[in-house]
Parts: sequence; C-alpha cells; structure tokens
Amino acid sequence: MGDIYDNVIELARRRGFVWPSSECYGAVAGFIDYGPLGAMLKRKIENLWRGFYIIREGYYEIEAPTVGVESIYIASGHVKGFADKMCQCPVCKEYHRADHIADEHGTAHADSLSTEELAGIINGLPCPSCGEPLENADVFYFNLMFQTTIGPGSQRTGYLRPETAQGIFIDFNRLSRFYREKLPFGAVQIGKSYRNEISPRQGMIRLREFTQAEAEIFIHPDHKDHPEFSRYADYSVSLWGQTHQMQDIEPVTPTMREAVDSGLVANEYVAYYISLTHEFLTQVGINPKKLRFRQHLPTECAHYALDCWDAEIFSERFGWVEAVGIADRTDYDLKAHAKESGDKFSVFVPYDEVRYEQRRTIVPDMGALGPHYRGKAKAVADALIESEPGPDGATITLDGESLFIPADLYQIREETIEVRGEEVIPHVVEPSYGIDRILYCTLEHAYEEEDVEGEIRKVLHLNPAIAPVQAAVFPLMNKDGLDTIARNLALELQKTGILAQYDDNGAIGRRYRRQDEIGTPYTITIDYDTLKDHTVTLRERDSMQQVRLLASTVPETLSRLIQGTLPFAEAGRKI
Ligand code: GAP
Repeated sequence: MGDIYDNVIELARRRGFVWPSSECYGAVAGFIDYGPLGAMLKRKIENLWRGFYIIREGYYEIEAPTVGVESIYIASGHVKGFADKMCQCPVCKEYHRADHIADEHGTAHADSLSTEELAGIINGLPCPSCGEPLENADVFYFNLMFQTTIGPGSQRTGYLRPETAQGIFIDFNRLSRFYREKLPFGAVQIGKSYRNEISPRQGMIRLREFTQAEAEIFIHPDHKDHPEFSRYADYSVSLWGQTHQMQDIEPVTPTMREAVDSGLVANEYVAYYISLTHEFLTQVGINPKKLRFRQHLPTECAHYALDCWDAEIFSERFGWVEAVGIADRTDYDLKAHAKESGDKFSVFVPYDEVRYEQRRTIVPDMGALGPHYRGKAKAVADALIESEPGPDGATITLDGESLFIPADLYQIREETIEVRGEEVIPHVVEPSYGIDRILYCTLEHAYEEEDVEGEIRKVLHLNPAIAPVQAAVFPLMNKDGLDTIARNLALELQKTGILAQYDDNGAIGRRYRRQDEIGTPYTITIDYDTLKDHTVTLRERDSMQQVRLLASTVPETLSRLIQGTLPFAEAGRKI
C-alpha cells in the first residue's frame, strides 16, 4: 500500500473523477478537470448542500456573473488588500508564498507576519523549487485577483470574482424586496471563484479556479438568536477555540447551548451554522473523527468580523485542511457597498408598537430671508434647517464664512411625530464552503484497500446518496436472454431516477471490483435462476453481503436503500 494521496489520485485519474487540466498542452498548476464520475460526484455534493440551505433553511439561490466591475472589489477591499506575501528565488527565479516557506520551517502563524519579518525569517532557507538558499530575497505583496478588461480596448477594469459572496451583497436591495424586507433572510450561490494563487502545489486543495458554495444570511444586529436553534442546542462537535490554541489545549466538545452560553461561540447563528456544517460534512462522508472546528486567532480574524470558525478536515497528506469558513461579518460588507455606490443598503424594520417622538424643526421665513439675502436666500435657508439655533438666532456657515441669522427670520416648531420603525443595516453571517476541498477529502476518507481472498480490493465507501453511479446491473452471461433482462432492469432503474450502469464486460469478480473502485453501493446480478423464479442477486458494496429478491421489487428496494430508509439485511433473502 502506498501513500493514500497517491492511491486516491491514481484511482481518481484512471476512473475518470479528476484529471489535470489542459494536459495535452502541459497541465497548468491550480486547474483541474472533473471527468464524468467526478463531475457527477461534485454535482451530487452540491445538491446535498442545496438540500440543507435551500430546501431546509429556505435561502434561495442566485447566480451572478463571475466577472465583476472594479467598484465591487474596491468596496469589498479586495483591490487594496487581497494579497499574499511573495518572494522570488534569486537563483531559479521561481515565485513562492513567503509565509508557506516560513511555516514549513517551523514558524507559527507565519501568515500574520509583516513582509519585513518574513524576509528576515526566510533569508537563507532553501528554495522549495531548486534547494538553493533564498539569500536576501525580498518579500512583497501579490494581489490574488485575476484582472481583465470589459469590452474592447481597455475602457473598464473587471476582475474574476475571488469569492461568490460579493454577488449576493450587491444584490442586497433586490433580495430584500424579494423577501418583503423581513429579517432574517438569506441567499446562496454555488459557483466558480478565482484566485491567482502564487505556487499551488497541493493538488485539489489549492486551486486557481475552484467552486464555492456560500450562504449570506442577513440578520438584525440585535437579534442573533437563531429561531430554530433548538434543532442543534444539544448537538456537539469538536471546537478548538482561541484560548485552547494559545494554551495548547485539545479541542472541547460542549453542546451548542453550552458553547454559546459560555461565550466560546459568539452567538446562536454562528453555533447553528457550525452544527449544520458538521451535519452536512458527515452526511457527505467526512469521517467525524477527522473533523474539527477551529476558531480564528485574533491575528487571523478580519478586523470587522465578530467571530470566525473554520471547519478543518484531516487529510493524511495535507494535515488539517480548511474546508469551510463560518463568520459573523457584521455590517461591514453592506456599509462598504453603501459608501462606494451611494445606495442605501438597509431594511426598514417596523417597531412592534408605533413610537411618538418630539421633533424640533426649523422653518425659514422665505418672505423675510429673500429681501435680506437675495440670491443666497435659498442657501441660507438650507443651512438654517441643519443649524442648532440659540435663543437670539442661529450661526451658519456660508461659502466658508460664518453668518449670524436673527431669530425673527425663522420659526422653531416643536412637533410630536409618529415613528413606525427604523432603517437597519443588517449583520451578515456567512458559511462559505470550498466544494473541491470537500470532494477531495471525501475521496480520501472513503478510500480503502482491503485483502479479499488474497487479492487487494480497492473500494470507495461513498455515501449512496452521493455515489456517481448508484447501481450496476450485470448479466452473469451475455446470452440466453440474461443480457436482455439485465438491460431492461437497468432501464427500469433509470426510469425511477437511479443512475444505473449496465455492465457485461469480463468475469463477474472483475465487474464487482470495477464498481467497488468507483463507489457504486449496489450491484445486481441476473443469472440462470432469474429465468426460473424471477429473482436476482443484490450485493452491498461495503459488507459484500448478498441477498436474493424478486426482480420486480428491485427499483423500490434500491430507492429505499439509497435514501437510507431500509437496512440491507431486510432487502431480501440472505444467501
Ligand atoms: N467569502 C468568504 C471566503 O471566500 P475563504 O476562507 O477565503 O472565505 C472559503 O474561502 C472556502 O473556499 C475555504 O474554506 C476553502 O474551502 C475554499 N477555498 C479558498 N481558496 C481556495 C483555493 N485556492 N482552492 C480551493 N479552495 C479554496
């Protein structure tokens, strides 16, 4: 048995899950192709995610362009600050992430160090490409966004989106109207994001084009209790808080209620989405023992974020991999877009009861102001309305000069006004998933090699709900009508929405091995007994156990097995 990563990638390439991209022109690091089974697996993971966020949570999906105008990314801070610290090897001229080099040589939290600090640390360390010392190599910022121009010439700068989130933020006002201005509401987006990673050497973990599934949930800043929190109040997951990390303590597993009450997790919304993420990832097939939630350290957390947790999955090759980020981003994004665009990014929140407030308004007397100030009367009136008058009059500033306006040139009205509600800029809670990382870790956790009767069986223990092929139908022999029965059964299964493959190629044992390798959970064999009593053999991938059942009941039985509502032992007569 080799390294699990090499074995998984070898299988993934050979069986059509994942291929290097543009291979015939020399593959470019950071890009991958999903082959037929990989694309199917990915789609199924995305659809499982949709089941959680769209069907269960009720947050509708939108689809925004992957190219965005520059203003979006000026507002979001990406133009200025979305950069990694880079160095160039003075010998081989290769570029590298300076913090990664420092990290690999034992510097803790290297990503939070300044360029000067990093330059000092990497000075003399070996270049990851050529091994020569990085003598006096400069460390400088490199912006990770792919820049483009929109339209011919270069009139307008655009960027490939580095996250799907911004597409949701800039649609905030339309979304707010769609949800009838009722907080909380949310929207989700699944799609490609692009980051021009400096030296992506980690296969599917660090890509330049990757798929994100993000939810942006808009909540009232004063109401951070999740209405459905009871669903997860008693749920517990492995939480590795800031203090645990700083004091070198192991993660803890309180219930979510305890985690929020003790202040470990900032609020119910963040705790709710940590739990939901745990439920989703384990349903996909992530081993719960290799899953933890790590809170960002103060040095990692964006200055505006109230609390951030990463779902980290353990990989034999890559160690703990950040697969999902869950953050309370406060009102940072909406305020930033309001400032840049000049639009309002708020919702009107009605009070439970109408409130009455005393309001003081200044009403300029235009009949009196006109003769006094002539052409400037309007400007004087506008400034008066904004002023704070004293007992004898008001002092205003006009064209940079201070001007006293006597009290007989305006009136002050005291009124009681009805206030029905207030404009609120919502806070955003964001669970952000990297689908490619989840898919790779799923393959790694599902992969097993076992000795079966002296032969190595390679098997992917994929959850039947996400397995690309859900059933395979084999005729024992390609003759005597067995093939026709098998083809018809495969068609029947396809009609019920089950992805079934017909396979009559090679010995039956080989066919089992082929399906085990791609994670097909169930196989059905048509043999000579089928001709007599219309029964078939159904085999379960994981246990390799077999049962006999009537061919006509296979579609219904398989549907229930795939949904997880029927134990395999009850699927038929054990043989
Ligand atoms: N909107 C928030 C956001 O984009 P992020 O932590 O930068 O947050 C979220 O990205 C997730 O996207 C990560 O947890 C990771 O799974 C995935 N991701 C980020 N960069 C990636 C890359 N270069 N290759 C593959 N996945 C990546």
